Amino acid sequence: MLKLITIIGARPQIIKSAAISRAIKNHFQSDIEEYIIHTGQHYDENMSEVFFEEMEIPKPYINLQIGSGSHAQQTAGMMNALEKHLQEIQADALLIYGDTNSTIAAALTCSKIGIPVIHVEAGLRSFNKSMPEEINRILSDHVSTLLFCPTQTAVENLKKEGFDLNIKYPSNIDNPSVYHCGDIMYDNSMFFSQKAMEQSSILQKLQLNSDEFILATIHRNNNTDINERLVSIVEIFLHLVETYSYKIVFPIHPRTQKNFSENLPKELWNKFSTHPKIICIPPAGFLDMIQLERNAKYIVTDSGGVQKESYFFKKPCFILRSETEWVEIVTNGNAVVCDVNKDLFFNSFQYFEKNQNLTYPPFFGDGKAADFIVQEIVKQLKKC
Ligand code: UD1
Ligand code: UDP
Repeated sequence: MLKLITIIGARPQIIKSAAISRAIKNHFQSDIEEYIIHTGQHYDENMSEVFFEEMEIPKPYINLQIGSGSHAQQTAGMMNALEKHLQEIQADALLIYGDTNSTIAAALTCSKIGIPVIHVEAGLRSFNKSMPEEINRILSDHVSTLLFCPTQTAVENLKKEGFDLNIKYPSNIDNPSVYHCGDIMYDNSMFFSQKAMEQSSILQKLQLNSDEFILATIHRNNNTDINERLVSIVEIFLHLVETYSYKIVFPIHPRTQKNFSENLPKELWNKFSTHPKIICIPPAGFLDMIQLERNAKYIVTDSGGVQKESYFFKKPCFILRSETEWVEIVTNGNAVVCDVNKDLFFNSFQYFEKNQNLTYPPFFGDGKAADFIVQEIVKQLKKC
């Protein structure tokens, strides 16, 4: 049996891990023993526990309970706590997802003690190093042994950084292997879509009909921590509901909740939070979230995951950032990078109101990325 440690910590990683754990359970139970380590980066019930229940994610081996803090505090705390468990488990490899502080903490800790690192969602780049995530993902890629890229663009990014694209067996940190495998979140969205339809009652609870609302999420530090940007976003939302018939459903990330209530001018916050057409709700579970995505008319977001899900569920998307890692959905005309520019946002809005004939080529694979990833992990580690 191969021992594989999976590191999770932030909400999107917990959600992503469901796809790999499901693939192990369904097809590779006799090959891999998975040890999930939760760093505790996210800890509220609706940012963590809810996903374990509804997505049937195995209970973590340990929760390091690191919690919130500055980048250095959080990353160092995770590294320190993780090292001890690595010695206990004696793992064959460690799997990390995405680009958070949990990702980089695990990548650095493991690569330095010679445990091969497997990076799922490798190769993504915003080319904006003022994003903490860009630093996390570049460094994680460069200490990884197996790099699983969700898109062709991600593969090309790695090639430009000097990665050799010829797959080797067995790989090591000096001779890493790069794979184009599709997106495990496409697997998850398709897998849970039917379940969401059957089990989620969010539309009834919020008294919403399909297509009468816009789903919005905001949590990037660049939006929540800069007051002028926060104000621009709120003004866009208010103008939207006052000009068009749509309502806005806004599941609020705890970081956003804190900054909205503490830093927005009081009058604006009151107007926003009590507006009859703006429905603020706590962070949603995954089934409720994809039910909202499937039934929304449009999606407005700065989230990486939600951008992709807008594409999976064929909803035009307004990206409130100055760039995106998911460039395919923009170049294909399914999403617009609006930043927090009101004119750009409303010009794009008018465009999508008139143009509903969008195409959705399969940029994110066939829904079987997780099976492919686990199969390659087994193949690689058995040859090591
Ligand atoms: C983190 C990731 C980001 C990812 C996001 C997903 C980093 C650098 N950032 O951002 O890439 O897109 O997760 O959601 O790793 N908080 C709570 N309860 C929680 C979690 C957080 O109240 O369960 C509050 C705390 O005030 C905390 C703040 O949110 O200080 C930010 O949390 P943190 O995990 O540091 O960063 P995120 O903004 O969530
Ligand atoms: N998500 C969720 N509930 C919410 C908001 C998001 O379940 O209230 C899910 C969303 O469907 C996606 C993932 O969380 O699968 C994206 O995580 P997030 O936006 O926190 O981070 P990012 O993807 O930007 O790193």
